[in-house]
Amino acid sequence: MNVRVVVAAAIVVDGRLLLAQRRRPAELEGLWELPGGKVEAGETPTDALRRELREELDIETEAGERIGVEVPLADGLVLRAYLTELVSGTPRALDHAAIGWFSAAELPAVDLVPNDRMWLPELERALRAS
Ligand code: C5P
Repeated sequence: MNVRVVVAAAIVVDGRLLLAQRRRPAELEGLWELPGGKVEAGETPTDALRRELREELDIETEAGERIGVEVPLADGLVLRAYLTELVSGTPRALDHAAIGWFSAAELPAVDLVPNDRMWLPELERALRAS
């Protein structure tokens, strides 16, 4: 079976995690997520992450190690998170309602999309280690 992958980036700078606020679909509107998107045909997951972050946030990045569990989604999709380095640029919300930077102390109170809540322990650990 051809499992399709959705990739998401955990970008930490100066002890804060970059999150983006979704505009759609209606049930996720206003919730915060690790930015990313679907891997397209012919792309590696890390290629896809680089492309999505360029398209959505106008930044250049480099994916590092995977963190957290792989989350099963509907329609045979799986969602993966990668620790990701911000190489250049200042993120701008080109596709999202907003972006924000959140500390380990702030993270538990953020309205994350339900899937991304699975990664809270690893995200908090990455923030505290930074
Ligand atoms: O962003 P997009 O709609 O392309 O994402 C594809 C699927 O992955 C959606 O179901 C979305 O809810 C999910 N997703 C997620 N957490 C992320 C990124 C995407 O649950 N950080």
